[in-house]
Amino acid sequence: MTANASARPSTDSAVSRSPRQVQRIVRGRPTSDGAGVKLTRVIGQPDLDMIDPFLLLDEFRSDSAGDYIAGFPEHPHRGFETVTYMLAGRMRHGDNQGNRGLLTPGSVQWMTAGRGILHSEMPEQENGLMWGFQLWVNLPARDKMTAPRYQDIAPESIPEVSPVAGARVRVIAGTLNGVSGPVSGIATEPVYLDVRLQQGAIVELPLPSTHRGFAYVYEGQALVGDGVSANLVRGDLGVLGNGDSLEIAAGDAPARLIVVAGKPLNEPVTKYGPFVMNTPQQIAQAVEDFRAGRF
Ligand code: FE2
Repeated sequence: MTANASARPSTDSAVSRSPRQVQRIVRGRPTSDGAGVKLTRVIGQPDLDMIDPFLLLDEFRSDSAGDYIAGFPEHPHRGFETVTYMLAGRMRHGDNQGNRGLLTPGSVQWMTAGRGILHSEMPEQENGLMWGFQLWVNLPARDKMTAPRYQDIAPESIPEVSPVAGARVRVIAGTLNGVSGPVSGIATEPVYLDVRLQQGAIVELPLPSTHRGFAYVYEGQALVGDGVSANLVRGDLGVLGNGDSLEIAAGDAPARLIVVAGKPLNEPVTKYGPFVMNTPQQIAQAVEDFRAGRF
């Protein structure tokens, strides 16, 4: 976004900034999951298998009840974390350990499945808009059989930061302007920001250089990346290159996007439906444990 990068002031820090670029742009594919919920799969599809440590990103968005009403009845997970972020609508969560929760607009559930849970995610509404994201975050080999853990985060527990005029950022995970998000204790040290820009606003977000990540535009359009910026329109995911910051600019209209980054695990990944392990033997064990009712 900076017309002349060399004009960037270098007095703000002893270490010069290294802005990230968008390496490639990917669009999601329409699919359905659960008992027939229509959604768009952005990560975890043939055009984008994964962005280590992120295994899957779904956007669900519909105001037609038939697209979501059947929900996600009881199903297992093992070996990773599921992160649900609701923008609109209400989703009821329950599992076989007796945990219950209601996801309302603006709330987040960060579920560490670990060695295994059986849960359901069902709409708590019969009409109206249902909109949000589900992200799958991998667990390191040492944590794949950890005890399941939930972080149910109410909308009011997510701080909002305004780094510059015209920009508002909800900090779900990670730190921005000294403000940390409520999600804690996650192995991949994730950053999860929900960014809202007014027309013409430009923001620069720090992203740890150790992390891999992406930006996904869910409303409007935005220029993302330094210098030769990528123009991302609604439904575009930009895979980010290396660096320690990210510039985002809104054009003639407001823009909304999520910016997500995490420490890559660089470990072997073997996926089979709702099980994500390191080896085929561990997958076979997961299937056997599930069938034997050991979840
Ligand atoms: Fe699930």
